[in-house]
Amino acid sequence: MKKLLKNGNVFVSKNKKFEICDILLEDDKIKEIGKELSDSEAETIDCNGYHILPGLIDMHVHLRDPGYTAKEDIISGAKAAAKGGFSSICCMPNTNPVLDNTSAINYVTRKAGDLDKTRIFVIGAMSKGLEGKEIANIGSMVNAGVIGISDDGNCIQNTKVALNVVRYASTYDLPIIVHAEDYTLSGEGQVNYGKMSTKLGVKGIPSLSEEIIVSREIMLANVTNSHIHFSHVSTHRAVELIRRAKADGVNITAEVTPHHLLLTEEECAEFDTNKKMKPPLRTEKDRQALISGLQDGTIDVIATDHAPHTDYEKELEFLKAPFGVIGLESAFPALYTNLVKNGEFQLEELVAKMSENPAQIIKQDLGLIAEGKTADLAVVNLDESFLFSENYIASKSHNSPFLGKTFFGKPKFTLCKGKIIWQD
Ligand code: DOR
Ligand code: ZN
Repeated sequence: MKKLLKNGNVFVSKNKKFEICDILLEDDKIKEIGKELSDSEAETIDCNGYHILPGLIDMHVHLRDPGYTAKEDIISGAKAAAKGGFSSICCMPNTNPVLDNTSAINYVTRKAGDLDKTRIFVIGAMSKGLEGKEIANIGSMVNAGVIGISDDGNCIQNTKVALNVVRYASTYDLPIIVHAEDYTLSGEGQVNYGKMSTKLGVKGIPSLSEEIIVSREIMLANVTNSHIHFSHVSTHRAVELIRRAKADGVNITAEVTPHHLLLTEEECAEFDTNKKMKPPLRTEKDRQALISGLQDGTIDVIATDHAPHTDYEKELEFLKAPFGVIGLESAFPALYTNLVKNGEFQLEELVAKMSENPAQIIKQDLGLIAEGKTADLAVVNLDESFLFSENYIASKSHNSPFLGKTFFGKPKFTLCKGKIIWQD
């Protein structure tokens, strides 16, 4: 099976820039990139006016399957991902049962493998039941194919257990993905600690809750030489800690979410539960530091932390509503519209943070548009705007902080292994 994508503005990885050209796909591979290609056997797709990016990769998604399938399941999550331009996603293990054993992991892999949709990689738990007490059987999960380990949503509080996980995992070549939160400091906090928590009269989650654990994990990575990846970095001091540790040669990487890049705690003033997540939206100073961290390479990756919750959970009062927001379908358009279109950030850089860089961290030969590489592509129309509304969303849940916004950069086609898995 051949496909010929004609006259797209292609992000050619070799040159790290956009060029108007054609791409010939054969089966699941990119066969040729060049000008005025032709092939009588190929199905031709006119990409004139469109940008062709490497299929996006989201290394932080909660698919809720097994156990919480009213929020999302593997099929609906994969569909939402494809609609957002993602050819690959990684799913987090905070399901029920937890993905801390081979049979649970095999369940996800099998169900995901049956789909003609976005590719799904599995992240296994660090601790049994995500309880932070006993280390999970990481070796058997690695054999079952996990690409990383994480207790995301939770954070191991006991430093001895955290050290054992990092030591044990260092024998395998995979990232240890850390949700940094000190519970003694975050406690019952609902929003960022400071101006907004005072204004709303609710308990706050201080920046220090994140920074204490980031500091601890930097030390653990340093003594064990394991690769620690920080999920959803949200504070300016965490960015600075990571910057300095990287300069010292510590084996760490970091990610930031679109919502922490684009929104601040001010959004919580109206008690909108779609602005409630962990870590919380922080201050403008933090937001600016996250953008600088992305620009100077301190932060490697943008990942959504797509965390679906049902309408009836998010309709609860602010204190009772669960933490988390969806992000698969808004990520690229929201970032393109609010960071690239206004000149704050280069499109090439945005693309790398959402494709090549996560591919490197999860050690997959993906995220590049080059001859011989896997035909994972996201075809977008940067000039086409659309209303991001509940109707637009393919996810089972609608808890987006961006509802009602108009975005440019609409995904038109998404391809995974040479197959069209989404078409506008
Ligand atoms: O807000 C969040 N929701 N943060 C997390 O780390 C976990 C996630 C969830 O699973 O709902
Ligand atoms: Zn998460």
